[in-house]
Amino acid sequence: RTPVQDQDPGPPGVPPSPSDPVDSLIRDFLRVRRASTGLCSTLEPEDFVLQSMPDASPAKWHLAHTTWFFEEFILSAVDPGYRTFHPRFSFLFNSYYNAVGERIPRPRRGLLSRPTVREALAYRESIDERMVVLLRSADPSQVERFAPLVVLGLNHEQQHQELLLTDLKHALWHNPLRPAFRDRPAGPAVDAAPRRWISYPEGVRWIGHGGDGFAFDNEGPRHRQFVEAFRVASRPATSGEFLEFIADGGYDRPDHWLSDGWAAVQQHGWRAPLYWERGDDGWSTFTLAGMRPVDPAEPACHVSYYEADAFARWSGCRLLTEAEWETAADVAVSGNFADDERFHPAPPAGGPENEPAQVFGDVWEWTASAYLPYPGFRPAKGAVGEYNGKFMCNQHVLRGGSCATPRSHIRPTYRNFFYPDARWQFSGVRLAQVG
Ligand code: AVJ
Ligand code: FE
Repeated sequence: RTPVQDQDPGPPGVPPSPSDPVDSLIRDFLRVRRASTGLCSTLEPEDFVLQSMPDASPAKWHLAHTTWFFEEFILSAVDPGYRTFHPRFSFLFNSYYNAVGERIPRPRRGLLSRPTVREALAYRESIDERMVVLLRSADPSQVERFAPLVVLGLNHEQQHQELLLTDLKHALWHNPLRPAFRDRPAGPAVDAAPRRWISYPEGVRWIGHGGDGFAFDNEGPRHRQFVEAFRVASRPATSGEFLEFIADGGYDRPDHWLSDGWAAVQQHGWRAPLYWERGDDGWSTFTLAGMRPVDPAEPACHVSYYEADAFARWSGCRLLTEAEWETAADVAVSGNFADDERFHPAPPAGGPENEPAQVFGDVWEWTASAYLPYPGFRPAKGAVGEYNGKFMCNQHVLRGGSCATPRSHIRPTYRNFFYPDARWQFSGVRLAQVG
């Protein structure tokens, strides 16, 4: 159950019934919305506007865009007489929905000093209030119709909570002061659990989301795939293992690399994962708690698909396919998530003998699979059909969630996706071999 302080008490004298679906939707709504502003509680106004690259967005933009999502797809859609909070906000805070209309180019989101942070927060409060009024006043059959969009909006908001963290990390890193987002005491040094190999027999596997509960459209339809026998590493590759790759000339030798990967190494001058810096006493890395020595026990993080693939080839291994990953992910969802407020991957503890560990949380795991529609995939009708389907080209799937993902957001069937040169997400590597 959600904590008591997140419950809206409702009208006096009418105690909310915990089993009422509308009450629980309102509770979820307020809990997720407050988590976003909660992440920003230590930011100063200057922090909210930074945009360090076209792929990243300012924190203020994330807060307003997620609000616009509810205003556009629920409040406006449900009430033909709805008057928007501000007539130009759709132009500012529409991300990519062509069916909705024109918008400011993404690289210019950092040029919006107005609306101010205060105004963006007022926008959030106004839309939250209207959403709660709508949920309380609509008749049950109407709520049933738009409730799936509210749930989509909440899962959308959770995606932006992760992006808010990764975008802010990228922005703060550009400051020579290397400011911390949240202070965190350094833990004691520990050794990583040794890597074991877990074997899976060949077989026809059911892949994708089929059952009850929310899933994004790209997680279905559930379907079968034949998977050859394979072996999977019991944990993600560590920074210590990645240091060996670097020391062995990993970034100097084209033979480990895909052609596009080698071109990216040359073009960007990559010598190590993003945020790693070599000093007189070894490698350090920028974290959301400031600069820290690279901990060899931690999962390797902030690598591109190309680096993950080259590291795997250097290791005499390969990356998992999505179907292999989902086969191996038949374990409980637990791990280091945004809720833990560590905001950095943690060294793996040993798990059960015959189960992979750190499947969820800590670092997203690049898969060898292109981000493509599953057989029979059809995007939703209307503007929200643009949500996932139109990006199914030239990207790779990542699985499992990270230390910046809200725990309740992740599932075994969850498909994240990024371009193969992207490094600013908490992205790592899990190795696989033939069985
Ligand atoms: C699934 C993380 C690639 O960043 O655009 C946010 C998430 N979708 N708003 C993205 C998303 C719509 C998406 N990723
Ligand atoms: Fe979005």
